[in-house]
Amino acid sequence: MNAPIIAPSILAADFANLQEDVEMLNQSQADWIHIDIMDGLFVPNISFGLPVCEAINRHAHKPLDVHLMIEKPENYLKAFRDVGAANLTIHYEATNHLHRALQEIKALDCRAGVAINPHTNVQLLEDTIKDIDLVCIMSVNPGFGGQKFIDNTYKKVRQLKEIIAENNASTQIEIDGGVNINNAPKLLEAGADILVAGSFVFKSVDPQATIQELKSI
Ligand code: DX5
Ligand code: ZN
Repeated sequence: MNAPIIAPSILAADFANLQEDVEMLNQSQADWIHIDIMDGLFVPNISFGLPVCEAINRHAHKPLDVHLMIEKPENYLKAFRDVGAANLTIHYEATNHLHRALQEIKALDCRAGVAINPHTNVQLLEDTIKDIDLVCIMSVNPGFGGQKFIDNTYKKVRQLKEIIAENNASTQIEIDGGVNINNAPKLLEAGADILVAGSFVFKSVDPQATIQELKSI
């Protein structure tokens, strides 16, 4: 088992001291910085948008893993690439033209991600798996940090891992929502490659040590 890629979610950071938190992540063993964009339509919450992403990018020394929880994500791909996105993850449920959107992300020189809500079966990704660099399995209903991890996620990870192997794809599996030190080992064992963690990192006494703890599982 390889060491997991750790992507702390900035949604749980202190927005009044964002630069400080980004610099903390620069110093830490975090691999990526996970950025949650919410439009109040696809999810029942509004987080922040392009200018904040640009501001984070100005200080970040790590790739920005941008998770678009927005309707019609295809209209905003270039805009988020231009403010620093390295990975662009769109929701399966938010577009009618997933295959086209994935090609557009790649044409922008970003890595293409697809996120699926807890109710979405991983089987639905079989026909596009070769075009997907990472699948983000939502282990909570998207929209808020600090929610409880949904246990059905383990089964989805195992099923997706099989689809990836059957298709000879090199897709990575990311888990987003309610990740902590108790469920992380089991997620990695099931086949996860990337762990997103918001509250567990930022609400801990020593976020850098918490990142280190996740990294060294
Ligand atoms: C939820 C977001 C997550 C969130 C994770 O809609 O996509 O990335 O920030 O936060 P925690 O780790 O607190 O569940
Ligand atoms: Zn997210």
